[in-house]
Amino acid sequence: METTRKIALAALLAAGITAAAAMAGGASDDAAAIAAAGSADEAAVVQIDAEELWRENCAGCHGRDGRGQTRVGRRAGVKDLTDHEYQQSFSDEQAFRHTKEGMYDEDGEELMKPFGKGLSEDNGLTDAELEALVRFVRTFDPEREGAR
Ligand code: HEC
Repeated sequence: METTRKIALAALLAAGITAAAAMAGGASDDAAAIAAAGSADEAAVVQIDAEELWRENCAGCHGRDGRGQTRVGRRAGVKDLTDHEYQQSFSDEQAFRHTKEGMYDEDGEELMKPFGKGLSEDNGLTDAELEALVRFVRTFDPEREGAR
């Protein structure tokens, strides 16, 4: 009798330990899954934000499709961002600096206004937003890997 109870207790304990171990294992798997989902969501959010920022700040001239075939865009003389050669004519750093600080021709005439925070007359875009926009601009390049 006494022995039977001890064995039963031992079995219960063993089952408890296994369950606890399984839970711990499961929990860490869940944590990993949540972390992975979290970063995927973040990437998606950055992508969506860039598109929205593009629509709000840039598409008026460059067009939603990057071709610059808008009335203002034609007047401003924007070039076709879906043209691979044009995409190659500027580096990411240049694109970042030009959108942040503005772009001027050799006579100092403004081609594109500055969009950077504190430089723009309205609220302005943060460096992170501008970086996301430069990455977004690159998606218009038809010869870029993973281009749309
Ligand atoms: C008022 C019209 C206008 C708006 C709005 C505008 N751009 Fe531009 N953008 C231009 C013009 C004009 C050029 C110069 C084209 C050329 O090379 O002659 C230009 C050039 C560029 C270039 C090429 C830069 C380089 O170094 O050659 C990039 C990238 C760019 N714009 C991104 C943006 C982004 C991002 C936005 C929104 C935050 C934006 N533009 C908003 C008119 C505009």
